[in-house]
Amino acid sequence: MDSKSPVRIEPADGKLGVLLPGLGAVSTTFIAGVEAVKRGLGAPIGSLTQLATVRLGKRSEGRTPLIRDFVPLARLGDLEFGGWDIFEDSAYEAARKAGVLEPGLLEQVREPLEKIRPMEAVFDPDYVRRIKGPNIKEARTKMDKAEMLMEDIRRFQSHTKVARTVMIWCGSTEVFHRPAAVHQSLKAFEAGLANNDPEIAPSQIYAYAALKLGIPYANGAPNLCTDTPALLELARYKNVPVCGKDYKTGQTFMKTLIAPGLKARMLGMSGWFSTNILGNRDGEVLDDPGSFRSKEETKLSVLDQILQADLYPQLYGKLFHSVKINYYPPRGDAKEGWDNIDIFGWLGYPMQIKINFLCRDSILAAPLVLDLVLFLDLAHRAGMRGIQEWLSFYFKAPMHAPNVYPEHDIFIQLMKLKNTLRWMRGEDLITHLGLEYYD
Ligand SMILES: NC(=O)c1ccc[n+]([C@@H]2O[C@H](COP(=O)([O-])OP(=O)(O)OC[C@H]3O[C@@H](n4cnc5c(N)ncnc54)[C@H](O)[C@@H]3O)[C@@H](O)[C@H]2O)c1
Repeated sequence: MDSKSPVRIEPADGKLGVLLPGLGAVSTTFIAGVEAVKRGLGAPIGSLTQLATVRLGKRSEGRTPLIRDFVPLARLGDLEFGGWDIFEDSAYEAARKAGVLEPGLLEQVREPLEKIRPMEAVFDPDYVRRIKGPNIKEARTKMDKAEMLMEDIRRFQSHTKVARTVMIWCGSTEVFHRPAAVHQSLKAFEAGLANNDPEIAPSQIYAYAALKLGIPYANGAPNLCTDTPALLELARYKNVPVCGKDYKTGQTFMKTLIAPGLKARMLGMSGWFSTNILGNRDGEVLDDPGSFRSKEETKLSVLDQILQADLYPQLYGKLFHSVKINYYPPRGDAKEGWDNIDIFGWLGYPMQIKINFLCRDSILAAPLVLDLVLFLDLAHRAGMRGIQEWLSFYFKAPMHAPNVYPEHDIFIQLMKLKNTLRWMRGEDLITHLGLEYYD
């Protein structure tokens, strides 16, 4: 494919504000990790923006710069953090309680973490049922709450003197809701905020506040949130990029690695049974059937799209797929997942694959938060708006245009991400055709 002229990208000058609704395990592991990396206390393992390279031109050219040298990204030293939570704990106390990082490491980044004190949250116990906290905004309408959030954001921006800001949802998973009438247009949504429409979730009030102020928004949970015509209309109107939903970290990450491989070889599958034990606050919230339903939707959706049973009914038409999450406090953030996959091969002979993943949920999620913050800021400076499908790589249920299916195969997602970076810089897109090497 021919080179095009590069996209105009504003420079990453000045500081970048990172606003996090939810200062729990993932957020504090992310912030503490960035502070640790800045001090040389650890390496940003798992982050493409910090470690990965991108091949440019032909394989014979040997051009493989680091992504962070190829596109202008904000530097870790330029990040300023702020957030909201229903609990009053500072980021340091919240990180101690989450118990993901060792106390010895946390002590070394205690000072910057202690300075991050959560602003009062917009919270609704109908949307997150298992937790209660005191640090909550009181106001007559949801519109009043949105305006209070905008005031918080402006205060944060002037206090930290950031040049740009992004918001990324790291709050609890909300109860499953389908889009309602109030989500169908921006006008209906704004009327719903003023009338306290019960279909408007707290995460949507945060997203509305961010988008109104021209701030890019990423959704790390399975909540409906910006995946509605109303908020997408606002994103386009304000020229702001958005992406989501639900970080692809543990078991679903494994699924999107393995399922494309089995399908590539035209091996059949009759069942995939997944179960987990998880003992952190996220696990406690997901113990509520309403929140679990949101998670189940995003976890189940991946196999259907990857395997394409409509095209291959003989191989995948009878697949039984089940996902369970069990709240089990002794394990804390150290989740354990088991997968049993029943597959079949030549002449229909059955085989089994077992996966036992002893993972650390927030250790897997933190680098994704970092990459999303930096890439969303890049997209904004490159004038990109609305759904950022090239960031599907990071999500279990990637947001997508209504006329296409979401792409779940992680290798296609990675190719799309890197081709988007090449496109931004006016480099040839890589198709992997490669006939020219044999002419
Ligand atoms: N860790 C992973 O691998 C992973 C993967 C995919 C998705 N997620 C999602 O990321 C989110 C964060 O996960 P976590 O492990 O940090 O959970 P957590 O429970 O430790 O943190 C979530 C925090 O959000 C706060 N909160 C809830 N509602 C809020 C609101 N309306 N406003 C402000 N704060 C609010 C809670 O008080 C809590 O402190 C969850 O929704 C989780 O499902 C995590």
